[in-house]
Amino acid sequence: MITINENFLKLQAGYLFPEIGRRVSAFAKDNPDADIIKLGIGDVTEPLAPAIIEAMHKAVDEQANAGTFKGYGPEQGYGFLVDAIIENDFRRRGVELDPAEVFISDGSKCDTGNIQEIFGLDNTIAVTDPVYPVYVDTNVMAGRSGGAGEDGRYEGIVYLPCTAENNFSPDLPDQMVDIIYLCYPNNPTGTVADKATLKKWVNYARANKAIILFDAAYEAFISDDTIPHSIYEVEGAKEVAIEFRSFSKVIGFTGVRCAFTVVPKALKAWTTDGKEIAVNGLWNRRHSTKFNGASCISQAGAAAYYTPEGKEQVKKIIDLYMGNAKVIRESLSSFGYDIYGGTNAPYIWLHTKDGMSSWEFFDLLLTKANVVGTPGSGFGASGEGYFRLSAFNDPSKVAEAMDRISKL
Ligand code: MLT
Repeated sequence: MITINENFLKLQAGYLFPEIGRRVSAFAKDNPDADIIKLGIGDVTEPLAPAIIEAMHKAVDEQANAGTFKGYGPEQGYGFLVDAIIENDFRRRGVELDPAEVFISDGSKCDTGNIQEIFGLDNTIAVTDPVYPVYVDTNVMAGRSGGAGEDGRYEGIVYLPCTAENNFSPDLPDQMVDIIYLCYPNNPTGTVADKATLKKWVNYARANKAIILFDAAYEAFISDDTIPHSIYEVEGAKEVAIEFRSFSKVIGFTGVRCAFTVVPKALKAWTTDGKEIAVNGLWNRRHSTKFNGASCISQAGAAAYYTPEGKEQVKKIIDLYMGNAKVIRESLSSFGYDIYGGTNAPYIWLHTKDGMSSWEFFDLLLTKANVVGTPGSGFGASGEGYFRLSAFNDPSKVAEAMDRISKL
């Protein structure tokens, strides 16, 4: 008799975004004339930058010619992209990386979900609450938790509440943890961490032989020069942190797919009998066993972002989204909402009014304004009473959404 991985049965409901999609589809079916504006899932709407399109067209044409055709590439990604990443995203910020420390992939959702495989099941994980659900669900699937309690929190996982009361910056855990997931700029709260905050976590990890899994998928939206773009800007971080970066939001690759993960060679973990092991080698083994490399066409497109034209064109798109974020922030503030984030991140996190729950607010916005957002409680118990709006949409739609909300 074939049995299942029973850890999957511990998972609650569906994954957040498909669940929202289901509710929106049901509403649209019952209200076919409703002009629904989606500020829910953080999915980009602008077309790709011309320099990126041109590079991908060229890469397609190369596939038409025996002399330039590419079959399997290196599992870790092409050198042309790895070198461009190191030069532009790290060296200019004072961070030196060895090319063998960068692993190109097809997405940060997969990488942040898969990375836990290389660590023991007896590790205790800590997540901020609210949190990007992938970090939690993948650990539950692997068996690093017990069942969920009434508040939706899984037994055995350490939750670090992030609310307006602590400025969305969690305290260090008061028990020993081994794996700490941090996401900055933060999804969902849109808040950022300064260097001192990151240093606090790096020091904790160093002192406790823990590892930080640092998701920096939104770093390109940082405009404040004092905010680090990489955890490696903090001294000693290479010994304790893995960093995840994505091309999805910055160059609009949510559909095309390309991302990368940095696993420094200095990063160590231990066998249960205390033998030191380089994590880079483990991830390399896992990556080259289970992955055959990101599409050569995606990688050509991603590399074009680092050309002068690519950077200039992409900056205009990011400015457009951050212009939306400003409109959302200012509008919601003027309607009397307490709002957070949205200045160095494409997400605005708001406090619902009059004790309304996150899902009640979701329903209100959907049914009365035909605007879709994401209920804060979907990201964790501490997100209850909060709501996330994404800045990824056309400015005219964002303006229209704000106008409708103003009339509620
Ligand atoms: C989000 O809306 O939180 C993101 O788009 C989800 C993702 O990047 O997977």
